[in-house]
Amino acid sequence: MIKTVEWTEEGVVMIDQRLLPGEEIYPVFRTYQEVAEAIREMVVRGAPAIGVAAAMGVALGVRDSSAGDVEALSVELEQICQVLAATRPTAVNLFWAIERMREHFHRLRGQGASPDRLRQGLVEEARAIHDADIAANRSMGRYGASLIPETATVLTHCNAGALATAGYGTALGVIRAAVEAGKKVAVYADETRPFLQGARLTAWELHHDAIPVTLITDNMAGHFMQRGKIDCVVVGADRIAANGDVANKIGTYSVAVLARENGIPFYVAAPISTLDLTMESGQLIPIEERSTREVTHVREVALAPAGIEVANPAFDVTPHRYVDAIITERGIARPPFVESLRQLATQL
Ligand code: MRU
Repeated sequence: MIKTVEWTEEGVVMIDQRLLPGEEIYPVFRTYQEVAEAIREMVVRGAPAIGVAAAMGVALGVRDSSAGDVEALSVELEQICQVLAATRPTAVNLFWAIERMREHFHRLRGQGASPDRLRQGLVEEARAIHDADIAANRSMGRYGASLIPETATVLTHCNAGALATAGYGTALGVIRAAVEAGKKVAVYADETRPFLQGARLTAWELHHDAIPVTLITDNMAGHFMQRGKIDCVVVGADRIAANGDVANKIGTYSVAVLARENGIPFYVAAPISTLDLTMESGQLIPIEERSTREVTHVREVALAPAGIEVANPAFDVTPHRYVDAIITERGIARPPFVESLRQLATQL
């Protein structure tokens, strides 16, 4: 399995996703500030992977802090959490993971832990978050595979694979599990403008695993749905509101509307850590606006006239009425999502 994010004594090792598929390079990020920069610059991306990276960033910052007592370490922890939380606003897994690290620190502190024990405890917690993410994806995969027909062509958008998580993937985890269950699955991958996660990452991952994949440009999805080539859509999510509205990579909303128009089921696969039940609807989810250069350029090549007005929202919100099911590691939520999501979130 591809190692997306890994804790080592030297620092956090992450595959540089900006360079894929051309180069497979695993740099070490040695400070929490470097980890924050890697999240912002999308060395690591995908909601669960961002959460795992941030947790390891917190562990790294606390481990390497020169604070001599618990109170000073606690002040430093807040500074570290703030820097990591300011990297990307939409994926709620980032804030979930930071909060879990903070809570763990204060739980240990409440038990009278020494600075050294706190340092060690946070490393253990970050590693636990990493391992639990893979376990959640495998469980999600098993539930989700039941929704995939014996022979199916699945359309996906962006990259919700091993690269977007600690491993195995959410949407691609469902596809992997269906393949492991003996189903004949082929994938249509939207290229996913402007950052090309579909073309660069999903195509690379599936090709690597010998799962048949056809790359299409985003504006081809409707055509293939209309021609009866797509049996279902499975995508990931960056944040899911209490009513089941789903924030995911820009273009997901268009895919969902096209799927409904063509009578194709639209499924979302995401861990419980992607639920944000404090938000009543998707309208409240903050949408990240990224650099205009992502739209005007592919790497160093300019595609548009210099100085042109550009918009680059990185995510959109798919209203819950277009979502047929939300696949989690605890089971499958169906409409009405207000009840089914709350029930899954509170289940132990
Ligand atoms: O901007 P990105 O690449 O971080 O966006 C990623 C997505 O939108 C994914 O679909 C989402 O995070 C789910 S990943 C399992």
